[in-house]
Amino acid sequence: MPVIWVLNGPNLNLLGTRQPELYGAMTLGEIEAQLCADGRARDAEVRCFQSNHEGVIVDRIQEAHGRAHGLIINPAAYTHTSLVIADALAAVDLPAIEVHLTNLFRREPERQRSRSAAACLGVICGLGGQGYRLALAALLDHLKEGKR
Ligand code: DQA
Repeated sequence: MPVIWVLNGPNLNLLGTRQPELYGAMTLGEIEAQLCADGRARDAEVRCFQSNHEGVIVDRIQEAHGRAHGLIINPAAYTHTSLVIADALAAVDLPAIEVHLTNLFRREPERQRSRSAAACLGVICGLGGQGYRLALAALLDHLKEGKR
């Protein structure tokens, strides 16, 4: 059974109340519950984590090696700054999809660059919580095709 880990970075624990005009009204718990249900419907296990700390996110990425078959990651503001997260993703060599709720290309210039995207299979941004569901579907299709 494919195992997918979903990692969310800083401030995403505040979804639902955090700038809902930008990030939407869904809570992280609601997004995660939907992903777990989608996973069950496709005979996959989905495990979700959130941390406000860069090192903890790196620990999770490292732990995923040997435990997960793929990753969905929204590094939040670390997207734009963290070589450490990019290095960890490259090091574990698992297929990963980076997700952003907002369309980074409609936002401030400093948000238009991702340090981690190059270590990922693909990036989905601007589709709100739906982006995570699309990422899960794409990752499971990718694994089903026997790709890494
Ligand atoms: C975000 C975009 C980042 O720029 C921001 O710092 C976030 C959320 C998104 O999902 O749109 O915290 O990753």
